[in-house]
Amino acid sequence: MSEWQKVCSTGDIAVGGWRQTEVDGTTVVIYNVDGDFFAIEDVCTHDGAILSGCPLEGDEVVCPRHGARFSVKTGEALSAPAWEATTTFPVKIENDEIWVQDNRWD
Ligand code: FES
Repeated sequence: MSEWQKVCSTGDIAVGGWRQTEVDGTTVVIYNVDGDFFAIEDVCTHDGAILSGCPLEGDEVVCPRHGARFSVKTGEALSAPAWEATTTFPVKIENDEIWVQDNRWD
């Protein structure tokens, strides 16, 4: 069973902002979408570019290399040239702290 990992306080990520972290060896980005927090793997499924550092457009992030769009809520690839979703991770908030978990192998 994977462990929950504390990332930061909710106040540390402004609306529209992000925070990169490591979870069990995977680089993950936490996004604040209008006060709700979502976590995806920090990788574009087209050709491996990192997604962190790119501004959110609503609940979408745009890959800086070739412009693929991903939903940070579902990980779904929304436009070419990416077709595969990027991985999402469960997020929970406890006492104004953000926790994330990599439960893919549970
Ligand atoms: S590496 Fe992201 S669109 Fe090509």
